Amino acid sequence: MTYQCIITAVEGQGERKTGLITLNRPKQLNALNDQLMDELGQALLAFDADDAIGCIVLTGSERAFAAGADIPTMQPHSFISAFKSGLISKNWETILQVRKPVIAAVAGFALGGGCELAMMCDFIIAADSAKFGQPEIKLGIIPGAGGTQRLPRAISKSKAMDMLLTARMMDAVEAERAGLVSRVVPAEALLTEALAAAEAINSFSGPSVMLIKELVNLAYQGPLKDGVAVERRYFHALFGTEDQREGMDAFINKRKPEFTQR
Ligand code: CAA
Repeated sequence: MTYQCIITAVEGQGERKTGLITLNRPKQLNALNDQLMDELGQALLAFDADDAIGCIVLTGSERAFAAGADIPTMQPHSFISAFKSGLISKNWETILQVRKPVIAAVAGFALGGGCELAMMCDFIIAADSAKFGQPEIKLGIIPGAGGTQRLPRAISKSKAMDMLLTARMMDAVEAERAGLVSRVVPAEALLTEALAAAEAINSFSGPSVMLIKELVNLAYQGPLKDGVAVERRYFHALFGTEDQREGMDAFINKRKPEFTQR
């Protein structure tokens, strides 16, 4: 498949590979327009459906992960046209259907919809050059892809209010301290680190990986009691897999496990 606004590649040495998606509208700092979001959705679903792929890494350029939704294409909208066309709806949420882990590797600006897209990934690895922000208030609007909901869950209410109401940017160090990103790495090592994290995930049992993703999302979205109950059931269910027998046998016999994804 050839895309115009993204570049896809398959990376990795192991049996299961990593799907790498690079946002590619450099002149617009990877501003997210409909075509890019359509292509991103197609690429994500294609990697998710491919048994050879264990994990997906989503990245941008050195200068910008993404500087937000595309402002010139949004500017002429009225309430009715935004509502009827489902502006920032369908193609923005495809990423939430992906069952394999999606790691955001963020360098440079992740603003507005760019920050929201990174937050829709499963975790964020940031380059030391990364800058996060929700500057929509400066445009006379508010975030439209979950920023007011995911930011206070990812960081504190106070910091989220500060960022959303003042439009200030957060650098990588502050973002890590606040819990928005899982780790900060030198900009030149960003992709290597993100692909290494993906490779580590790819070496594990796919069903365990997918269930952890599902359960952490449940913890994040629902009540604790329900999440723990569902977790217990899935924990029991994994004793029906060959990978559980292999993983535990390998531990007991002090050898490296060979997972077969069954
Ligand atoms: N949409 C479209 N084009 C954008 C863009 C965006 N969100 N952000 C930057 N660009 C374009 C600029 O228009 C500029 O294009 P030209 O060279 O043709 O003029 C090019 O990218 C480079 O940008 P700057 O010259 O502004 O670069 P800078 O280094 O001076 O500033 C920046 C960089 C701070 C990111 C600045 O571009 C900026 O503030 N961008 C807008 C950020 C923003 O408001 N994002 C939120 C969008 S709304 C949204 O996302 C809603 C939602 O919740 C989904």
